[in-house]
Amino acid sequence: MRYALISDIHANLPALEAVLDHIAAQSDIAATYHLGDLVGYAPWPNETVALLNERGIEGIAGNYDSTVATDYKHCGCKYEDPRQEELSHVSFGWTKEHTSGETKKILGALPFRLDVKPNGGHASGPTLILVHGTPTLNTVYWTDDRPDSFCTQMAALAGAKAGDVIAFGHTHLPWHREVDGIYFVNTGTVGRPKDGDARAGYAVVELGAGKVNVEHRRLDYDVERAMRGIRESDLPDDFAEFLRTANRP
Ligand SMILES: [Fe+2]
Repeated sequence: MRYALISDIHANLPALEAVLDHIAAQSDIAATYHLGDLVGYAPWPNETVALLNERGIEGIAGNYDSTVATDYKHCGCKYEDPRQEELSHVSFGWTKEHTSGETKKILGALPFRLDVKPNGGHASGPTLILVHGTPTLNTVYWTDDRPDSFCTQMAALAGAKAGDVIAFGHTHLPWHREVDGIYFVNTGTVGRPKDGDARAGYAVVELGAGKVNVEHRRLDYDVERAMRGIRESDLPDDFAEFLRTANRP
């Protein structure tokens, strides 16, 4: 079974539309799941959640979703300098203000984790475990430089066994590796890349029949439209520039 995993859309509707069209054109993909952070930084929080609902795409709560839904004091994001911190607070305030009550209700109802069993729950076989950050918190950054011991520790906490896949996002940096027969996949980001490549991204994970394959996909989308949307809103123009450079402002 092949699954498309989309994470960290961050209210970038043009990027989400391009990714969903790309996935829809592949008849061998059994299902699509989102890994959270549907909102923040771009001006389409309600439209993003509505489109996912319309397409019947289920998924989990990212830190942005759970903090907006619960009116938390900050988004649970990491910042590296005072300017980034200031921008982060502006984005969070704007998003809380412009996300409708209906959308917040949907965000607040998202589960923390989702388990997918390609063979069905009645038969043994691998499990695809979806979380946003790590199996313990959606705010912890699971980057590629974490040692293998961190991966096995997280796998134990998640109850994963050899052949299983743990997929997550949150860092906006795609990577994957295998440790002790367990596969760890960071899906990257649909709508807010941080690796210098401005294209939208998602992952395809194939599991079942004793094998696991992971592919990271990138595709062009209408970045100009996304930048225009940000500039026409009250969000800082820095976020538009960020989408073009795919780097921190
Ligand atoms: Fe994110």
